[in-house]
Amino acid sequence: MRLPERQLAVLEAASATDERTIGDLAAETGLKPETVTGAAFELRDEGLLEVTETTHERAELTDEGARYVDEGLPERRLYRAGRELGAANTPVSMGEVISAADLDGPAVDIALSNFARKGLGSIDAGELTVVPDADPSDDPEMAALEALEAGETLTADDVVDRLDSRGLVQIVESVTRAVTLTDAGVDALMTGVETAETVAELTPELLASGDWRDVEFASYDVEADAPPATGGRKHVLRRTADRVKDVLVGMGFQEMAGPHADSDFWINDCLFMPQDHPARTHWDRFALDVDPTEDIPETLLSRVERAHREGWGDDGDGYHSPWSADFAREIALRGHTTSLSMRYLSGHAGAPLDPPQRYFSVEKVYRNDTLDPTHLLEFFQIEGWVMAEDLSVRDLMGTFEEFYRQFGITDIRFKPHYNPYTEPSFELFGDHPETGEEIEIGNSGIFREEVTGPLGVDCDVMAWGLALERLAMLTTGADDIRDLHGTLADIEFLRTAEVSY
Ligand code: PHE
Repeated sequence: MRLPERQLAVLEAASATDERTIGDLAAETGLKPETVTGAAFELRDEGLLEVTETTHERAELTDEGARYVDEGLPERRLYRAGRELGAANTPVSMGEVISAADLDGPAVDIALSNFARKGLGSIDAGELTVVPDADPSDDPEMAALEALEAGETLTADDVVDRLDSRGLVQIVESVTRAVTLTDAGVDALMTGVETAETVAELTPELLASGDWRDVEFASYDVEADAPPATGGRKHVLRRTADRVKDVLVGMGFQEMAGPHADSDFWINDCLFMPQDHPARTHWDRFALDVDPTEDIPETLLSRVERAHREGWGDDGDGYHSPWSADFAREIALRGHTTSLSMRYLSGHAGAPLDPPQRYFSVEKVYRNDTLDPTHLLEFFQIEGWVMAEDLSVRDLMGTFEEFYRQFGITDIRFKPHYNPYTEPSFELFGDHPETGEEIEIGNSGIFREEVTGPLGVDCDVMAWGLALERLAMLTTGADDIRDLHGTLADIEFLRTAEVSY
């Protein structure tokens, strides 16, 4: 039998009667442990070795635990300071002891709760008394922390569990592998094994000389353990956005582009949003301190004004509320990307459009909301519209069902809603895969005549704005939008989160 050198070395170092660990074999053969592991698995696959794996748990100091080894546990510092201030005889004000112990921030609570738990003294009406004969140096928790710092191995027991729940140690798992020779392995060694030269890398010289024909190549074990490689990777939200674009292009949509800072005209007036609507006040919108724009098509401006003042269509009535062209010319960050839909539907973004047409964008919008698990001040909207003769609510629902199905979401629900610019209007809801909570994922409807009329569109337009972050929450299982990006996002999640295809 012929075996590569490293396999032969491991085979010869293994025993039929005693388990030998990878560490033992590495020491004996002078090979690196990962080389020994690789060779051991190859020999196992040949039937020459048996490999057993044992999982161990052991405690490791956390940063906080390591800090207390230097500074002392907060409760012990509190005890010492109390004692020095005479709290063994007369109670001393807690504030005084805390500052003498030089404790602040969360360390104060930690000190107080463990102080009482360990029976180092008591606290009553803001004053602290210490037990005179408690020996604070006889503390198993501190002893365990010191042992770990000194490199000792500790496994789970009551003390370690307590330290774990205090966050001072963490329990890590490690696997030890050991090998024994199989009967076939013993036979092979008895009959004699020769070394086979193996080549790990194909070089230009091997190719040029033609020697590659005669050499034996080392085989790769693609299932062997390897350290995880965390290279650069596209952010999960960007990947979801890319996926959304692919899906919509696949459904026959074209992409819209346009300004983040836009005039109120495109953001609101075209949408038949009354100028005194609450969403248009300075609380909700990010107004920009720049000159108002002159760049609004005059005919369109007066048609939109007419819709607001008098209405549009046979039974239109308008708002009869104040309307000023100056307000329409002011600039703000867009609160939705429906501004882009208005630019495109009006023909202002390019040529006038003949039905049927389908357009979308996946772009950022800005709202002065309060941050919470489902709201950010900036987020991405999946905007879209379809222009065609005779559209119905069924077309709208069918489009969403098809769209969300591409992401594995098959249980969306619709609820009647109100928008100043659509009639009928629907909100969309989905179920969060982890929490089961119903979350709003979008808003939609069929544009009113007061919107399409002034734009010069004389067929139906169904439209929507969906939240990209909410879609990503449903597909990744993140239950707080702030887990997706920002300071709270978990790096491990960002490294491993998958986008469904
Ligand atoms: N602009 C709406 C929003 O931001 C979404 C929407 C767009 C609704 C188009 C209907 C039609 O919630």
